[in-house]
Amino acid sequence: MSSWPRNQWYVAAYSAEVTEELMARTICGEPMVFYRTSDGEVVALADRCVHRRFPLSKSHLVDDNVICGYHGFTYDRTGTCLAAPGQKRIPRTARVPAFHLLEQDSLVWVWIGETDRADESTVPRAPWLDSPDYTTVRGLEPLKARYGLLVDNLMDLSHETYLHGGYIGTPEVAETPITTEVDDEAQVIYVSRHMDDAACPPFYATSTGIEGRITRWQDIEYHPPCLYLLHSRVAPVGTPDPAEDGRDEPAFHVEVVYAITPETEHSTHDFWMVARDFALEDQGVSDFLAESNRTVVLQDVEALDVLEVVVEGEKENYQELSINIDTGGLAARRIIARQLTKGEAVTA
Ligand code: FES
Ligand SMILES: [Fe+2]
Repeated sequence: MSSWPRNQWYVAAYSAEVTEELMARTICGEPMVFYRTSDGEVVALADRCVHRRFPLSKSHLVDDNVICGYHGFTYDRTGTCLAAPGQKRIPRTARVPAFHLLEQDSLVWVWIGETDRADESTVPRAPWLDSPDYTTVRGLEPLKARYGLLVDNLMDLSHETYLHGGYIGTPEVAETPITTEVDDEAQVIYVSRHMDDAACPPFYATSTGIEGRITRWQDIEYHPPCLYLLHSRVAPVGTPDPAEDGRDEPAFHVEVVYAITPETEHSTHDFWMVARDFALEDQGVSDFLAESNRTVVLQDVEALDVLEVVVEGEKENYQELSINIDTGGLAARRIIARQLTKGEAVTA
């Protein structure tokens, strides 16, 4: 049994990454080749020719079909073989699996599991990523650690104070208690930390221009296994709370999004995005946020790469110690454990 739930959607790529060039990427242990057809459809096929296993990602794309770079088997966007060299008859079993995809909110989602169970209405939304009311910067970092370590990391932001001091961490983050809510039916976990009077870390001071202390809200919304949303609100101390109808002009809003996609049992695609509703046209702010957030992500990557080695080397039954700040992370583990059992049960 894999450590990630099957019969789930995962982010496979950013829309902009998938072009009319073949691109290889392994998702949940499945090597895939991605491309975009001339009519704009995104395609993902298993990255292995049925003939002698040559990777299709090292082959050629002609008229929306993939021609294997080894002996020329030709596959269409459904994975059906259209041509084989030296013979008219194409073997009946000559087809490669095609994966069910959905392109939404500038993300390419892939369904890992039985195709007939894929329900596109269950894909979590992140609408600001391609909204004209927001400007988004983004990146993708390879992580040499299991995806569960990144889930733990993101569900507990008290580590910002220690691992990301000087960027996004200030003492108030670790000092302020969290509230946690779990919606078991919708399978969403909410972890909130509201700081009434906090230092403004450089990440926000430089991008917003706020001088002095801030009200800082961090509202996490995690849709296990793949999508993590951090609704971040910063405003000068004394700014009124949002109005009943949600209007909140005096505050600055940053939507930090992570897609946590397992690559293999010991590696993860760490997709990160930062969308903001201010200084939309300011390239300097975009550059600053992109560089700062990448630095922060790399601080996590460095720590988690080390942690992976520790976890791999530890004795079985090693017991961690959990405290209040881990409530959200533990809830995430419980939901993922249930998804694992459910996903496998469907397969059986
Ligand atoms: S390995 Fe692909 S055609 Fe032979
Ligand atoms: Fe972090």
